[in-house]
Amino acid sequence: MLKGKSIILGVSGGIAAYKSAYLCSMLVKQGCDVNVIMTENALNFIAPATFEALTGNRTLTDTFDRNHEFSTEHVSQADRTDLIIVAPATANVLAKFAHGIADDMLTTTVLACDCPKIAAPAMNTRMYDNPVTIDNIEKLKHYGWEILEPDSGRLACGTNGKGRMPEPERLLEAVIHTVSASKDMAGLKVLVSAGPTREDLDPVRFITNHSSGKMGYAVAKAAAARGADVTLVTGPVKLPAPAYMDVVPVVSANDMYNAIADREENSDIIIMAAAVADYTPVSYSENKIKKQDGEFNLELERTDDILKALGENKRSGQTLVGFAMETENVVENGEKKLISKNADLIAANSATEEGSGFSGDTNRLTLITSDGKEELPLLSKDKCAHKLLDAVLRLRK
Ligand code: CTP
Repeated sequence: MLKGKSIILGVSGGIAAYKSAYLCSMLVKQGCDVNVIMTENALNFIAPATFEALTGNRTLTDTFDRNHEFSTEHVSQADRTDLIIVAPATANVLAKFAHGIADDMLTTTVLACDCPKIAAPAMNTRMYDNPVTIDNIEKLKHYGWEILEPDSGRLACGTNGKGRMPEPERLLEAVIHTVSASKDMAGLKVLVSAGPTREDLDPVRFITNHSSGKMGYAVAKAAAARGADVTLVTGPVKLPAPAYMDVVPVVSANDMYNAIADREENSDIIIMAAAVADYTPVSYSENKIKKQDGEFNLELERTDDILKALGENKRSGQTLVGFAMETENVVENGEKKLISKNADLIAANSATEEGSGFSGDTNRLTLITSDGKEELPLLSKDKCAHKLLDAVLRLRK
């Protein structure tokens, strides 16, 4: 999704600089042309050669280095850059950025750049909480910077608190969100459900399914990256909560029904990617159910079909998307669900086909609408998500 993008990675002097090497490698793997600019202090923490080996580009450090081809390197860099991310960003460089101070290669280039800018502050908690730093961060936000909130945890100075640079995966998420897609969903409210639901039997046991939540999370992230206002209603999964959206955690099918009922009216597009339990125990035992000799029968009752209820109440202008997870007759069953649930699109997939289904990172979707079906090849779930959203936008034209 970032293929061909030109990114400047600014690295200032903090212990978290080693994590920037991971970010750098991830960006290169995504197909970006990455140019790294280090402050002089950063040289104490990581060597320019590390970034040069990862990017294949020269790492720049000093404006007054006359050994390279352009004497105005900072301006030529700035012209061809899609995004600049400074990670880690020390209190010192944040202060310089906020006040337009340009006294080295990094600060000069940043000042000459009018592309989107992200900073990942990393510093001691007291420095982060200092009103001067708080003011500088506010100033940068006002100038359009995206400032990633530091994580809490053990800091290099030996104390615990807020100030750790977020993990490289979070930084990559920020880059993808900002530059990967056109903002063709701006102004749309999108409600996505994801993951399994969990039906409790007693305080220690429950019924659930193998859904990992990866497909629904990919759809929610793709919609947010395309500028939509996204709410993600998620069953219990092992994935980190995505940024740039309202995340509503739920447990049971009934919780999910209520969370969606509360939000459906305001939504332009609703995508039910969750694997909602069709049955739930008739009663919940407050105490652990003790074993007994002989057979044990569990009495289950039907849950409400959320997608069907949404289809019955669909308002004009609202687009309703369901998934069909099947083990046989994938397309035929998907076509039946399109009609029985009054959906506008059903994304049918197989639970058993190699590379498809619940837990992996790929899927093969067939997009079914009343106009016909589109069979997508095996793709990453991220790509599937974008193809699905392309189809949704075509339907809304
Ligand atoms: N769904 C729902 N509420 C339920 C069950 C399913 O909203 N109680 C939604 C799913 O989120 C999905 C679609 O309905 O978008 C189809 O789900 P699936 O499990 O494939 O089918 P079911 O409708 O449950 O039918 P069956 O189990 O008979 O295949």
